[in-house]
Amino acid sequence: MKVLSIVGARPNFVKIAPLHRAFSQHHEITSKIVHTGQHYDPVMSGIFFDQLNLPKPDFCLNVAAGTPIQQIAQIMMEFEKVMLIEKPDLVLVVGDVNSTLACTLVSVKMNVPVAHVEAGLRSGDRSMPEEINRILTDAVSDHLFVTEQDAVDNLLSENVPATRIHFAGNVMIDSLAYYKEAIQNASILKTLELNAGSYVLMTMHRPSNVDGREGLERVLKIIKRLALLKTVIFPIHPRTWKNMGVYGLKNEFENIKNLKILEPQGYLEFLNLTKNASLVVTDSGGIQEETTYLNVPCITLRENTERPVTVKEGTNYLLKNADEESVALVTAEIFAGNCKIGQIPEGWDGKAAERIVAILREKYINSYVCDK
Ligand code: UD1
Repeated sequence: MKVLSIVGARPNFVKIAPLHRAFSQHHEITSKIVHTGQHYDPVMSGIFFDQLNLPKPDFCLNVAAGTPIQQIAQIMMEFEKVMLIEKPDLVLVVGDVNSTLACTLVSVKMNVPVAHVEAGLRSGDRSMPEEINRILTDAVSDHLFVTEQDAVDNLLSENVPATRIHFAGNVMIDSLAYYKEAIQNASILKTLELNAGSYVLMTMHRPSNVDGREGLERVLKIIKRLALLKTVIFPIHPRTWKNMGVYGLKNEFENIKNLKILEPQGYLEFLNLTKNASLVVTDSGGIQEETTYLNVPCITLRENTERPVTVKEGTNYLLKNADEESVALVTAEIFAGNCKIGQIPEGWDGKAAERIVAILREKYINSYVCDK
């Protein structure tokens, strides 16, 4: 059985690492990795391969800059060439980024089955690029592996046959559990001269928050307010940094006392920062899950979340239409010790990739042997 796994953007590396490791346990499976090049900076890509022990990708499509449409189109054209050479039995995609959608469409059009890991998540907001990627990818994938019950319900309500849906758990948490000790040992706090619990960790990169002046100014005010309470650590996404430049706001951010702007961090450093933060403020999808697993309070600055289990069961506070006042209010409650007591959702146990590979083996190898 030959599987091509697709990676393109930062969160994909974290999800594919445990899957590739699980595939590699079985001699009858050949697992190859295709990197689309959607994220190309060493700090957004290379360091993750090193830290997560991912082998060098078997194919690099090298499609970097351009609009999302140009990127999707380029990925599709380049990936078709790989498919013609490799003729895989299965293409495996994760998450909801443009690379996920592009490679799914190519596979389906070439009659190769697709497994989508982290299927069924829905924000209900079609203006989000990821939401369209999720809906389209799920509609045409053959095997849908989900991380939470809401995702199952979403797929069923879209008339996806139940036989395609598998409640597998969360592969992002597999990485977190697997690298627990290495995360613990990362020396980033020492480098930054920080104590555990003495800072707020911030990430912000969604178009709705950083692609316009209004959103960026709102983020600026929120950080100014938070920085009155604690040091704010802000590893900055290239998209956010670029837009701060476009709107002439870089100096304003850089001049906030008590704010440390950092380059994007490696996986181990970032998770160490997360684990030791008194609060995380974010608009990321994956970080809502990681903070729930680590039992760290998280404020999500978005109008919706496709990961409702992190709010219902975990430590996540979804703040819609947030301004500096509403963020300060929730922060004060959290710092006063009145924060949610979270629990770890079902199947977030470090073994999701093993379960996924077992199901795929059953479908592609055991049943094949039986047929013969
Ligand atoms: C993408 C995903 C998002 C995910 C995020 C994680 C989509 C639609 N969005 O958003 O779901 O949460 O990755 O980081 O796929 N850039 C660089 N260097 C890089 C990568 C990107 O400078 O290494 C620049 C790009 O040229 C672009 C901007 O940053 O101008 C945004 O990159 P893009 O790949 O469009 O998506 P993200 O915003 O990172």
